[in-house]
Amino acid sequence: LDTLILPLSVIFDLPLAIYDRHVITLILSTKHIDMNSSTRIACVMVGLPARGKTYIAQKVCRYLQWLSVSTKVFNVGNYRRKLHGAHQMHSFFDPHNTEGESARKEAALEALKDMIKWFLEEDGTVAIFDATNSTRERRCMIIDYCKKYDVQVMFIESICQDESLILQNIMDVKLSSPDYKDMDPEKAAEDFRARISHYEEAYETLNEMKNESDYTYAKLINVGSQVMINMIQGYLQSRIVYYLMNLHILPRNIFFSRHGESVYNLEGKIGGDSKLSPRGRKYALALPELIKANLGDQPLTVWTSTLKRTIETAKHLQYPKLQWKALDELDAGVCDGMTYEEIEAKYPEDYFNRDEDKFNYRYRGGESYRDVVYRLEPVIMELERQQNILIIGHQAILRCIYAYFQKLSQDDLPYVKIPLHTVIKLTPKAYTCQEERYKIDIDAVDTHRPKPKRPTDVSN
Ligand code: ATP
Ligand code: F6P
Repeated sequence: LDTLILPLSVIFDLPLAIYDRHVITLILSTKHIDMNSSTRIACVMVGLPARGKTYIAQKVCRYLQWLSVSTKVFNVGNYRRKLHGAHQMHSFFDPHNTEGESARKEAALEALKDMIKWFLEEDGTVAIFDATNSTRERRCMIIDYCKKYDVQVMFIESICQDESLILQNIMDVKLSSPDYKDMDPEKAAEDFRARISHYEEAYETLNEMKNESDYTYAKLINVGSQVMINMIQGYLQSRIVYYLMNLHILPRNIFFSRHGESVYNLEGKIGGDSKLSPRGRKYALALPELIKANLGDQPLTVWTSTLKRTIETAKHLQYPKLQWKALDELDAGVCDGMTYEEIEAKYPEDYFNRDEDKFNYRYRGGESYRDVVYRLEPVIMELERQQNILIIGHQAILRCIYAYFQKLSQDDLPYVKIPLHTVIKLTPKAYTCQEERYKIDIDAVDTHRPKPKRPTDVSN
């Protein structure tokens, strides 16, 4: 081996997070390509129907978009429906049905063309090509096509032999697909199973013995309980693999709460490390009952920042606790400890600029929301791995984490309402997160500043 085998980020991260849960087979890579401004990666999904490909595609897309990597999913099913109609029965997917076969190829080619167009015209970085791509011939066609445009191809194969999970997936998401709109659910499930059988007939798993040894791929077996990786190149691909290794689909809840009202909140000051106000302390006392009413005896871990107000808020919760420095509030630099009015008087230009582009505005000597997103990346990674978690955090921090789960844009993120004395409960579902909010009846100040309405420029 003459060059780096695996990016160091993967090697260093693995023992911390992965070894306890996964068997890892590493098929060694001899390539190393660094990410640069022209990096273009097509993540090509592989696998039988109902193996979670779309789920994985959506998750990876959200993770990368949240990290400001330009990412887009190209779902071939949508192209198929557009070109050939939504109500195709299982025979359409029979590999012996030549008409169906060429119609499906046509849909794949249309999606591929659009994907390349997106790379070229919109300067995309990661495209996720979501289809079964279940034969070597189809994968070879994709590789050849992408090579012409200097697009790296990384296959992500999902293999699942758990019949009950596949059935569950059919019930959860396939019956509500546009393919089966207005159809009797039993008939739809039967048809979908017949569709899977057709794909099984032609399916060829990624195989290094059969001319696919130099393909870049990650194979996830039984929801990532085993992961095989081959020829992973560069930082971005290794981040994607690491993210995939941490995904699970066990039912769980993620709770968010800001700390109880603090002395600084009462005084209208930002930042600092003040203690709770008397009303904040009451909130801390009331919190355990609310959590218990929601979770019963289920296990939970509580994460706080290293600041006094979150630790004090967690004080009465009888669960394992963990302090994260990464969860400390956005650093307001020279403005730390000031009120918004003081900032406006002392730094009027900064104050104005912040509302012009709040996501990117960096306080003098402090941080921007963008900076906070980057420092929260390990928190997100760990959240994906964990089960029930309660994060007791701060306004800006919880906005960033909430925006990841609820797929909010960078414009909306810094203005999300995360009120004091309110618990937000997120329950991840197949492609979305269900949300409930519980307000505890203890008054607190409102620290939310809406985006000021500026008079529109009518000069031209
Ligand atoms: P199709 O080929 O019909 O589009 P698909 O493989 O894209 O099917 P999804 O639509 O993604 O399947 O299925 C979603 C369901 O898969 C979700 O309910 C999710 O919990 C589950 N799921 C997620 N990851 C996996 C996995 N690695 N293996 C099996 N199921 C998974
Ligand atoms: O006011 C409470 C607080 O947590 C401050 O410490 C922090 O600077 C602020 O909220 C973040 O909110 P915004 O980004 O809207 O100023």
